[in-house]
Amino acid sequence: MGTSGTLAGMRILVTGGAGFIGANFVHWTRQHRPDVEITVLDALTYASDGSSLASLREAVSLVEGDISDAGLVDTLVSQTDLVVHFAAESHNDNSLVDPSPFVQTNVIGTFTILEAVRRHDVRLHHISTDEVYGDLELDDLSRFTEDTPYNPSSPYSSTKAASDLLVRAWVRSFGVRATLTNCSNNYGPYQHVEKFIPRQITNVLDGVAPKLYGDGLNVRDWIHVDDHNSAVWAVIDNGRLGETYLIGADGEKNNKEVVQAILVALGQPADAYDHVTDRPGHDMRYAIDSTKLRSELGWTPAYADFAKGLAATVAWYQANEGWWRPMKEATELRYAAIAAH
Ligand code: NAD
Ligand code: DAU
Repeated sequence: MGTSGTLAGMRILVTGGAGFIGANFVHWTRQHRPDVEITVLDALTYASDGSSLASLREAVSLVEGDISDAGLVDTLVSQTDLVVHFAAESHNDNSLVDPSPFVQTNVIGTFTILEAVRRHDVRLHHISTDEVYGDLELDDLSRFTEDTPYNPSSPYSSTKAASDLLVRAWVRSFGVRATLTNCSNNYGPYQHVEKFIPRQITNVLDGVAPKLYGDGLNVRDWIHVDDHNSAVWAVIDNGRLGETYLIGADGEKNNKEVVQAILVALGQPADAYDHVTDRPGHDMRYAIDSTKLRSELGWTPAYADFAKGLAATVAWYQANEGWWRPMKEATELRYAAIAAH
């Protein structure tokens, strides 16, 4: 048994479990931890899709509700052994248009969860991002570690940083039993088509050229969503309470390389993309040093080869048009409105 007291039959509350990483977490947990009882709390915003969990309808309870609803959160937390907190507004471009839901969900929502786990002495695992550390230069050889100072750039990343600091303060001041993970860019099935990789895959499938912001040289450190989730379970099982673990799989690639790989995977010329106006304040490079997670908890990624993981993801979007088609047009209209601004 790890520090979390992981037991067969434990009850977990997964916030944001109808979103990209949360839904994959629920699938991963059903497959690898079939004894765990799962309740999902999700506001079912534009970013979610109930059908991501459709095949698990019998096995998982889905509660539609807001993590800022203190009464609902209190009731659900009182009935669980562990909260795994994924729910967030997650898209940088949206946070630049209207930051208010980011403050509400990422800050007030996390505060609401913290007060409930404090009242009921329930273990919390808080999911966060490497973006809290700001960005690195392209010619800088360093990578983020757990000791890198916080320096977020966007409304999204600053609200995630705020949520992390709230969790750390509740650990120190109130003895809340929490762990935190900060992960790099995820890719895989069920990712909303507003995000870079699915947007470009579905553009190419629609005969539209992929859109690269600026010169396309910004670097992201890609990790398959299943590797993120296996790392989250490693921390839940054996992570030290109060600690932060960085999750990354040594997947640094610039955006141009990723677009070219998508084009080639779909049988198109590697240069059939467009450059478009850059994102304001666009972070240059993220890179994770996951030594602590690997050496302390023995975690290793299953998708060491990005090309293989990307090919599987391209194939998933080809095979699951029924999942992404309903959100594609509205997403591109949102992007067109941003571009026209
Ligand atoms: P997502 O946008 O796909 O899903 C977020 C989910 O949260 C959605 O189902 C949405 O309906 C739900 N939600 C939003 N506001 C809510 C509210 N007020 N109450 C209840 N539910 C609400 O996001 P994602 O990409 O799956 O990210 C999940 C978590 O992982 C976030 O905390 C994000 O910061 C973090 N993260 C994401 C990445 C990435 O690459 N996507 C990397 C590192 C960390
Ligand atoms: O690093 C972890 C973060 O990764 C998470 O915390 C966020 O929730 C997640 O959205 C992601 O943030 P990014 O801003 O890095 O991801 P996004 O998919 O929006 O963009 C990835 C890169 O691709 C980034 O450099 C911007 C660029 N981009 C994005 C889009 C949508 C393009 O060049 N063209 C595009 O059309």
